[in-house]
Amino acid sequence: MEISFILLDSNDKAPMELLLLADPSEKLVKEYLQKGDCYTANLNSEVVGVLLTNKTAPHTVEIMNVAVKESYQNQGIGKKMIKYVINEIKKQPDIDCIEIGTGNPGVGQMLLYQKCGFRIVGVDLDFFRRTHPEERIYENGIECRDMILMKMDLKEEE
Ligand code: ACO
Repeated sequence: MEISFILLDSNDKAPMELLLLADPSEKLVKEYLQKGDCYTANLNSEVVGVLLTNKTAPHTVEIMNVAVKESYQNQGIGKKMIKYVINEIKKQPDIDCIEIGTGNPGVGQMLLYQKCGFRIVGVDLDFFRRTHPEERIYENGIECRDMILMKMDLKEEE
């Protein structure tokens, strides 16, 4: 399976349907898109994955959104895409920290991010109720209410 990764430029159309798999708020996704870099994972010219980053502090990049098309999930694409983007971020000399967050029901995501080198650093209680006040989000049969904060210290890793 030959996957290629592309950093979209501002004229390219981002795959909104895929982005909404990771965050149901189109409004928030559009805000992140305006501020950051959007990568796609491509298989035979089909977009099968997407990853969106924002610079959230002077030396920090956060992976705001990562998603793989449902029919292609659990085949290693998400992990390859995250590792590819980590390497791209490492090329930016001013960045020394990468962050990522996932909802409290996201056990699979938490394992995946740890396998990619992230560590759990905290919990932002009621994050999803604050940021998505108009809806309750459910995953794995429980409310996605708190944000599990994860981090990779690029200096420490080296
Ligand atoms: N138990 C054990 N291991 C698990 C579990 C689980 N429940 N779920 C995932 N994993 C592990 C797998 O074992 C695998 O590791 P391995 O390669 O060592 O075997 C890894 O996590 C999964 O890797 P991939 O196959 O690369 O993952 P995938 O291509 O399916 O992409 C993603 C993962 C992006 C989370 C995808 O499933 C998806 O799009 N989900 C819906 C949207 C979503 O939840 N996005 C993340 C929201 S948080 C955010 O955007 C920052």
